[in-house]
Amino acid sequence: VSTETSGGPEALAALRAAAADRAAAGLSRTLVPRAAGHDGPVDLASNDYLGLAADPRLAEAAASAARDWGPGSTGSRLVTGTTELHRRLEAELASFTGAPQALVFSSGYLANLAVVTALAQLLGQGQAHGQRAQGGHGVLIVSDAANHASLIDGCRLARAHGARVEVTPHADPAAVEQALARRPERYALVVSDTVFSVAGDLAPVRDLHRVARAHGALLVLDEAHAFGVLGPGGRGAAAAAGIAADPHVIRTFTLSKSLGSQGGAVAGPAEVISTLIDAGRAFIFDTGLAPPSAAAALAALAILRTGPELSQRARDNARRLAELATGLGFETSEPAAAVVRVVLGEAAAAVQARDICVAQGVHVGCFRPPSVPAGQACLRLTARANLSEFHLALAFRALGAVRDHVRITA
Ligand SMILES: Cc1ncc(COP(=O)(O)O)c(C=O)c1O
Repeated sequence: VSTETSGGPEALAALRAAAADRAAAGLSRTLVPRAAGHDGPVDLASNDYLGLAADPRLAEAAASAARDWGPGSTGSRLVTGTTELHRRLEAELASFTGAPQALVFSSGYLANLAVVTALAQLLGQGQAHGQRAQGGHGVLIVSDAANHASLIDGCRLARAHGARVEVTPHADPAAVEQALARRPERYALVVSDTVFSVAGDLAPVRDLHRVARAHGALLVLDEAHAFGVLGPGGRGAAAAAGIAADPHVIRTFTLSKSLGSQGGAVAGPAEVISTLIDAGRAFIFDTGLAPPSAAAALAALAILRTGPELSQRARDNARRLAELATGLGFETSEPAAAVVRVVLGEAAAAVQARDICVAQGVHVGCFRPPSVPAGQACLRLTARANLSEFHLALAFRALGAVRDHVRITA
């Protein structure tokens, strides 16, 4: 096939045109390398909620694991990618979160993808033992409209396996109940973030649990932004709601936020964990978590076990950041954990605000469509347990400059 007739040049021209459209709409993105050490701007953008990412105890644990095992895990978990560190991390995650079992993934994204897809596939395609004999079939997934992209992608893949997906309005347990009650499918999953990643608000966890249990559904909760920050000793929103030990509750975690490392996990009953090991494609066909990351996560969990006040400090600092922003007249959300959203409206306003903050020595998150709905572009400020008065004063000054110079359209 000649290049003239293959459509290749036209395809690249189409991509260039799409990039130009994004640039014109203020939706281009750039990768900015982060400097090593602590000399950069004040960090209100990362997800290092407990300030553990730069903790020397994590670095030493990772370095020691790299010396013992090498920098990578050498294979998929089922072949050579499981080490003693993975086994210990799974036992410690289960023990810390109060779950029967845990399974570690190379990212939280893949943990979410695997759990939604594998459960939907096995429950929905007649492979679950006794399903035909009991008369029903099929699986419904009820997913909150503001869920993280990894849960959404899990739902999309599940659809390809025959599941039906209903997206319910954000934080609306009555809508979830209706969807469950009128379903023809035998099985159902209710899927929700616990703390939402951009707005930082808390899902109605107890109500979701109540309606899921009343209608025979499993509840899948993504604790990415709650773990380490919310609940007793940072054990997450399900623990705070008293439902962590229910075998019908499945939780997913990332090791990359509060734990300052990298990787993800699913915690839940043995039936779910063995399903993921035997049939979770995002588990089976992926190289196992790097041993240094597993070791760093273990070190972070040890710190969290002995220092539960870290969680409280992260929450207190989030509340103070929100108060600074509302005091300056911004529309902010009540932070459930460490995420504070400052709504600005148009994408261009958010970009301008982000640039002003950077010029003032403060690094903030800038969220634009498609990460948020059109007209709801925002800054996302994240608190850390180790923010100082000086950091908060710089944040105040930066937000003041945003208020003085940016036309807010929200
Ligand atoms: C709510 C939520 N779930 C899952 C993930 C994915 O976790 P990971 O970064 O470990 O892939 C993220 C963010 O990264 C998140 O914000």
